[in-house]
Amino acid sequence: MLELKNICVSFRSERQDKVFGHTRQQVLFDVSLNVKRGTCLGILGESGSGKSTMGRVLCGLLKPDSGEAILDGVSVYASRAGRRNLQNKLSVVFQDYTTSANPRFRVKDIIGEGLTVRERRERGRLERNKETAALLELVGLPADFADRFPHELSGGQLQRVCIARAVACKPEVILFDEAISSLDAHTQVQVMDLLQDLKEKLGLTYVFITHDLTSITYLCDDVLFLYQGRVTEYLPVSRISETKDEYARRLLESIVVFDTETSEVAV
Ligand SMILES: Nc1ncnc2c1ncn2[C@@H]1O[C@H](COP(=O)(O)OP(=O)(O)O)[C@@H](O)[C@H]1O
Ligand SMILES: [Mg+2]
Repeated sequence: MLELKNICVSFRSERQDKVFGHTRQQVLFDVSLNVKRGTCLGILGESGSGKSTMGRVLCGLLKPDSGEAILDGVSVYASRAGRRNLQNKLSVVFQDYTTSANPRFRVKDIIGEGLTVRERRERGRLERNKETAALLELVGLPADFADRFPHELSGGQLQRVCIARAVACKPEVILFDEAISSLDAHTQVQVMDLLQDLKEKLGLTYVFITHDLTSITYLCDDVLFLYQGRVTEYLPVSRISETKDEYARRLLESIVVFDTETSEVAV
C-alpha cells in the first residue's frame, strides 16, 4: 500500500570545501520498504540513523534526491495530485506532543485541526461538538476534556489528544515518529494498547518509528533496522530472533535474554 523504492537523501553539510564549496552529507542510502494494508511496520534505529528523515519522505514533507514514494500505486512526489492523495490518506503523530499541540489551543481546537482537514476533503461541515466528544471517547478521555488546555493534561493524556487529532481526519495510514518515547513505561503500555485497539477498530495501517525494540515486538508485524542511513535488516517480527545482522543482534542482546546457541528469544 505504502512503498519506498531506492530512496536516497542528502543534506548540504555545514563544512565548506575550499575547492567544491558546500559538500553534501548523505543521510539515506537506497532505502526500500513496503507496508501492507492493515499491518504495522516498525522502523528501528539509534539516534541519528535517519529515521525521522525517512518519516518525512513517507509523509510527503521531503522530496528525496532519488527514488520513489508510492501510496496506493500513485507516486507521491511526481505530481501535486500525488501529494494530495497522500495528505488525504495519511496522518502523523510526533514525539514532542508539547510542541505539536499549540499551548493556546483548547483540546477541542487541537482535535478540530484534524476535523478541518476532513471537512476540506469531504467539502462539508461536521458537527464539531459531537465529533469531538466521540473522538475523546475513542481515545479513552472524558468528554469534558474538550475545554482544557494542554498544560492541564498529563503527557499521556495530551498524546491521546494528538492521537485523536490524527484519527479525526479519517486517515488510512498513521505515521508515528517516536510518539510514545517520552512517556513513562507504564503510560507507554497504555498508549500502545490504545493504538492496537484503534488499528483494529478503524482498519488502520501504521508506520511506527522508534529507537525502542520492546514497543516493536508489542505492536508491529514487520521490522526494519536502520543503521547509518542503510537498511540492515527487514523481516517479520516473529522471525526477529533469526536475524544475522550484527547491529540487530546487538540490540536484541541488550534488551532480551538472547540464547545465541539456539537463537531463541526468552522475554
Ligand atoms: N534538515 C536537515 N539538514 C541537515 N542535516 C539534517 C537535517 N535533518 C536531519 N539531518 C541529519 O540527518 C541525520 C539523520 O537524522 P534523523 O533522520 O533526524 O535521525 P533519527 O530520527 O534517526 O534520529 C543526522 O545526522 C542529522 O543531523
Ligand atoms: Mg528522529
